[in-house]
Amino acid sequence: MKKVWITLLVTVLVFSAIGMAKTKITYFGDNDPNSAEAILTRLFNSSQDEIEVEFLLQSWSTDDKHTALVTRFGAKDPNPTVYLGDVIWPAEFAAAGWALDLTPYFPKSEQDKFLPGTIKSATYLGKIYAIPSFTDGGLLYYRTDLLEKYGYKPPTTWEELKTIAATIAKKEGIDGFVFQGAQYEGLVCDAVEFIAANGGEVIDGNGNVKVNSPEVIQALEFMRELITSGAAPDKVFTFMEEDARMAFQQGNAVFMRNWPYCHSPSNMAGDQSAVKGKYGMIPMPKGPKGSGGAATLGGWMLFVNPFASKAEQAAGVQFAKFITSESAQIIRNLVAGNAPTRIAVYSNPTVLRANAIVETLYPIMINAVPRPVTPFYAQVSNALQEEFHAVLTGKKTAADAVKALERKIKEIYEQSVHYVFSGP
Ligand code: GLC
Repeated sequence: MKKVWITLLVTVLVFSAIGMAKTKITYFGDNDPNSAEAILTRLFNSSQDEIEVEFLLQSWSTDDKHTALVTRFGAKDPNPTVYLGDVIWPAEFAAAGWALDLTPYFPKSEQDKFLPGTIKSATYLGKIYAIPSFTDGGLLYYRTDLLEKYGYKPPTTWEELKTIAATIAKKEGIDGFVFQGAQYEGLVCDAVEFIAANGGEVIDGNGNVKVNSPEVIQALEFMRELITSGAAPDKVFTFMEEDARMAFQQGNAVFMRNWPYCHSPSNMAGDQSAVKGKYGMIPMPKGPKGSGGAATLGGWMLFVNPFASKAEQAAGVQFAKFITSESAQIIRNLVAGNAPTRIAVYSNPTVLRANAIVETLYPIMINAVPRPVTPFYAQVSNALQEEFHAVLTGKKTAADAVKALERKIKEIYEQSVHYVFSGP
């Protein structure tokens, strides 16, 4: 009889343990354990008792994140189950088999609630591989107090930007215009913006290489002139987003090109920010051949790892839906200032009361210009990074750089035709 009782007890314990067992998954979010990303993960964990997400810290720059994930997926690693990926990755990751097809979980009726550009960039050959979490577009941050002091209006053209930046920088003994000039993806974003603002493009919608044009040459020459005229300091050769943000936030620059997230820290009270209440955010200025300023489309989305088990994938989809939900996007905007991908959040009264700038962001985000969409984007970007940096630092003329780029991009595309027809 005793044996029967023991067996029964063990069975009950085992079954309740199974019942209670959580599906454990991992999430590659960002580099900050106190970020909106990490807070949302904690909120998800405490909102239910079936899934537990471990937040894995990863490095800050998009290039490093890309390398880390490519290495893992090359080895068919089932971790991370879910990852926050850049808007430029879906074509490459889908073609390589590193992103789960989310079409069955993310129907058209749901997709329609998002900014169309973000959905387009998550889609590859008619299927959707990621759920957009927040979007990005380049903005010009400017010091309202300093422009007023010297009698200038906010610039709408390149010439105005250059003149005002160089003049005030000299008079105040600070930097004029800071932007992303290091040899990495951020430089590509800034250059694509200058190129589009001058009516040019690198590759058109049909895959034709258009980089060798007077509009592109003039845009790259202008970026170099920013340095030679003293409008931008040559330390931008090594600047990424955070370097520019710190310079601006500490009151050491008149203008900054950056993404919407900088508004949150720059607007902090006390000694956290030297520019609280002293700056504005406007669209980037236009070039002489362009019809208006342009913003490069950036942003991040949730991908699920196809090498994870079916149960982990299902849990991952649930988590991805949570992180990209309307409430999560509201929290993210309030905590981190990120621009939402869900259209409804732009008119949410709570968000607008807390963060009125969201209204200004909408037209900029909806018109943002994508970088070339191709499964070979990483190679194209390497070529762009190298040539753009050579022009910026004065090692190459813009005319030579675009010739080299035309050749390099065509070579990458020719190899890609080979890849598509004969397999990887
Ligand atoms: C931002 C953008 C991303 C871009 C990166 C470049 O994170 O959202 O799309 O690639 O900056 O540094």
